[in-house]
Amino acid sequence: MKGVILAGGLGTRLFPLTKITNKHLLPVYDRPMIYYPIEALVNAGVTDIMIVTGGKKSGDFLSLLGNGEDFGLKHLNYTYQKGEGGIAEALGLCEHWAQGESVCVILGDNIIEKNIAKGVSDFRAQGKGAKIMLKEVHDPERFGVAELDGDKVVSIVEKPKQPKSNKAVIGIYMYDNRVFDIIKTLKPSDRGELEITDVNNWFLEDGSMTYEVLDGWWTDAGTFDSLIVAAGLCQGGGANNS
Ligand code: G1P
Repeated sequence: MKGVILAGGLGTRLFPLTKITNKHLLPVYDRPMIYYPIEALVNAGVTDIMIVTGGKKSGDFLSLLGNGEDFGLKHLNYTYQKGEGGIAEALGLCEHWAQGESVCVILGDNIIEKNIAKGVSDFRAQGKGAKIMLKEVHDPERFGVAELDGDKVVSIVEKPKQPKSNKAVIGIYMYDNRVFDIIKTLKPSDRGELEITDVNNWFLEDGSMTYEVLDGWWTDAGTFDSLIVAAGLCQGGGANNS
């Protein structure tokens, strides 16, 4: 399985912090934000990693990360997303590189306390389809939200005004290689993006999606409030510990 970190976009929700740099290069406690998703993948044994960057300062990722030596890697891959076409568009840029393999995708602003090793090994055993990770939150309207019927996900709605549950779909997704064909069929949403939620709903309808509830805390860091929450969580409890 290959790993993909999505670190493009213009970071408009953090303007002016993102006026001269990419959101994923901003500090979260003692590290640049991008360090956390790289560590999350490496800790789960996913070491063939593509970073999708974007914006004017994308070259800074190369200066910061090089070949990934700080993470025990020998090599990192980079590609470039123009503009803000969405998470699914960014993932679509990795098709040539994935070469038929499945992918574990993590959003560059998602930070977790523990690790996703079990989820990754469960998905390897699952073999095909998709796996999403859920986490209970107090503000589900900010996220993709899963509606559950017993133990089964019945729908996922992106930023619902009236969420049907408090279970957010966090920004860690595993897909078989069909994901690249699915992305080609998507139409932009009202916010002008190709939505990862539409990809997830395709796998849901296909009957090939599983989910796990993430153990330990999770946060994104893409707004002023969540950025400071993330820093506090990382200071208090570390991140990506096993
Ligand atoms: C994105 C996804 C959303 C998911 C969230 C997790 O939201 O669209 O489904 O719950 O990441 O961080 P965005 O950050 O684009 O608003």
